[in-house]
Amino acid sequence: MCELQNEIFGSGHRTVTIVAEDTIISLVFEFLWTLIRFHYEVVKGIIRWLFPTEKDITGEIVLITGAGHGMGREMALRFARLGAIVVSVDINPAGNEETYKMVKEEKGRIYKFECDVTDRAAVMALAQRVKKDVGEVSILVNNAGIMPCNPILQQTEKEIRLLNDLNINGNIWMIQAFLPSMIERNHGHIVAMSSMAGLMGLGNLVPYCGSKYAVRGLMDALAAELHEDPRDLSGIKFTTIFPYIVDTGLCKKPRIRFQKVMKIVDPGEAADIIIDSVRKELMEVTIPKDLHYMNRYVYRLIPYNAACVWQDFFNTGCDAHN
Ligand SMILES: NC(=O)c1ccc[n+]([C@@H]2O[C@H](COP(=O)([O-])OP(=O)(O)OC[C@H]3O[C@@H](n4cnc5c(N)ncnc54)[C@H](O)[C@@H]3O)[C@@H](O)[C@H]2O)c1
Repeated sequence: MCELQNEIFGSGHRTVTIVAEDTIISLVFEFLWTLIRFHYEVVKGIIRWLFPTEKDITGEIVLITGAGHGMGREMALRFARLGAIVVSVDINPAGNEETYKMVKEEKGRIYKFECDVTDRAAVMALAQRVKKDVGEVSILVNNAGIMPCNPILQQTEKEIRLLNDLNINGNIWMIQAFLPSMIERNHGHIVAMSSMAGLMGLGNLVPYCGSKYAVRGLMDALAAELHEDPRDLSGIKFTTIFPYIVDTGLCKKPRIRFQKVMKIVDPGEAADIIIDSVRKELMEVTIPKDLHYMNRYVYRLIPYNAACVWQDFFNTGCDAHN
């Protein structure tokens, strides 16, 4: 039970939702019911972790941005091998064509579209064309991204604006374009490429880290928003990927002290992990996978200066390049 109350404050106006006070008995029942649901979900999560099932993606329409190179291309090949219909989207027609041919050579099903995902109008037009020519997208992989790598005071306004337009807004425009049909069907999966730079700060990558923290934030918020929606939208899943250094050329000067511990991952291997995570409907996955536990259970629990001591010892990151 709730009632609305309108208030004037300063020069503004707000509507406050006031939840009517519950009786003690109904509160106790609700609390017990919450405890039961909580334990049910914890047990379900543990069982899924111990005995993961992989969903069948045959015939699903998978749209991948930035599929003309790197991990996007490797994902396109693997999704097609699993029987999905791939929609390859890239700003670079030559790279997109190459991916298209590679999938076709393996007799996979693929469509290609040239699109700059920073351009909202172009993204909305893309959604119309894909719907008409291919069908309803059920798996959206927001992969396209760039990574200027320099000390913050050396990064130009132009490259920082482009970085945010692509790494953040590009994700948002694609979600606005393709989420509505997923909501209508209560069926879909949104995948986003964050980065280890979206979980911890790294030198030479200040705006990039900001953009990748933003990707993580918008995925968490989207999951929360759909969870709060009164309609049943539980058929829409979310996966955020946090790679460290993948050998695509994006990180031009990787600095790794212990190559055996922090190896540079092959893009094909990274794509295998991403697709496995999508099929198991995992919400957050790092590449390599162990970094997730390092970040969550070590790095986040110790004092910042203590974490820095280990960061200095491992001395791993991206050196500046022009
Ligand atoms: N490679 C890594 O080490 C690494 C690490 C962490 C996170 N990531 C993230 O993973 C994602 C993929 O990285 P990658 O290394 O495979 O990239 P990549 O540079 O190999 O490929 C990116 C693709 O995106 C396309 N693209 C660029 N701007 C675009 C735009 N405006 N519209 C549409 N397409 C556009 C490019 O043409 C290119 O084909 C990125 O979001 C990146 O930030 C990469």
